[in-house]
Amino acid sequence: MGGDEGMLSWDESVFRDEHVFEIDYVPEAFVHRESQMQGLSHALRPALRGSRPLNVSVRGPPGTGKTTAIQKLFGEVAAETAEVETIRVNCQVNSTRYAVFSRLFEGCFDYEPPSSGISFKKLFGQIAEKLIEEDRVLVVALDDVNYLFYENEASDTLYSLLRAHEEHPGARIGVIVVSSDPTLEAIDELDARVQSVFRPEDVYFPVYDEPEIEEILGERVKRGFHDGVVSGDVLSRVAALTAESGDLRVGIDLLRRAGLNAEARASQVVEGGDVEDAYETSKHVHLSRSLANLAASERELLAAIADNDGEQAGAVYEAFHERTDLGYTRYSELVNKVDQLGLIDAEYADVEGRGRSRSLSLSYDREAVLDRLE
Ligand SMILES: Nc1ncnc2c1ncn2[C@@H]1O[C@H](COP(=O)(O)OP(=O)(O)O)[C@@H](O)[C@H]1O
Ligand SMILES: [Mg+2]
Repeated sequence: MGGDEGMLSWDESVFRDEHVFEIDYVPEAFVHRESQMQGLSHALRPALRGSRPLNVSVRGPPGTGKTTAIQKLFGEVAAETAEVETIRVNCQVNSTRYAVFSRLFEGCFDYEPPSSGISFKKLFGQIAEKLIEEDRVLVVALDDVNYLFYENEASDTLYSLLRAHEEHPGARIGVIVVSSDPTLEAIDELDARVQSVFRPEDVYFPVYDEPEIEEILGERVKRGFHDGVVSGDVLSRVAALTAESGDLRVGIDLLRRAGLNAEARASQVVEGGDVEDAYETSKHVHLSRSLANLAASERELLAAIADNDGEQAGAVYEAFHERTDLGYTRYSELVNKVDQLGLIDAEYADVEGRGRSRSLSLSYDREAVLDRLE
């Protein structure tokens, strides 16, 4: 190729395989999660013998490998047997019982349920019949199940899944609930009728410590970048920044953006400055992800709070109502949801002459929120 030493031409790249930095990439090496994988396989073992598996409650903060563990596990099951149907449902985008069962229908039939809308009972009946007819066990992972709680749909959804064999004798369904909200005591929040039939095995995913993060990111660097692009020092810096949040997604996003920054400078090596610049964006991956999945009314609410940062709930309601025409009841529900998502802080304060009221403020930098709402 020739040219100046250290300069990139258009057809050159610092990346060997940029795909390894994408959101849905499932890593080949999955280290430091042996005991969690063991706990999960143990619970699923009965399914491989044709029985109903144990239910599992998976908990842990964001970016600790929970979704990856489910994908690995389901991949192993599929390689072992065709008698077990495994379906992972992303509850962040399927946050009602009907939406969850629509995804289960799709998983079982390989096509979507009729969009004209069939009753829940019918939808469920067809899934159950199909499982019984084909003599298959179904394992459902409700990923980011905390979103079902925020929408008050968790109890109904779990109740239907857990009592499936009563309404449809012969149906065998196991449930893995995956929560990424450390403040949510999922079991306590469920209706008593669900609690009485839901006694899951617990599997916990702690945040990775800095050396673990460095090892995992080091593996990604090897696969993703050409040799010599990311030095040991730069990798250590990325690991240190990632450890501040404990969310591996920050580190993976940081590596990719730092690589792009190096390319923008036409450099064949990633320097410290590329990392520091990238961090200004990458530190907000969690915020970006939360905002990207919000409904229009929820985005309007955040915009209203941003315009009235720190104001009383009543004042924010005025602004929200003006934007959406929605009433106070729905407003309160949405405030609770964005509060549970960690996007705002709602604090009770005494207001002169009006007793106690809540003041609402953004948990993140206002500009960072507004940029991502556009
Ligand atoms: N032990 C690990 N080894 C390699 N990559 C990992 C590991 N744990 C997590 N990751 C990566 O970190 C990112 C976040 O993991 P994910 O499973 O989505 O976390 P969670 O579901 O807990 O939020 C993904 O890109 C995943 O590939
Ligand atoms: Mg996940």
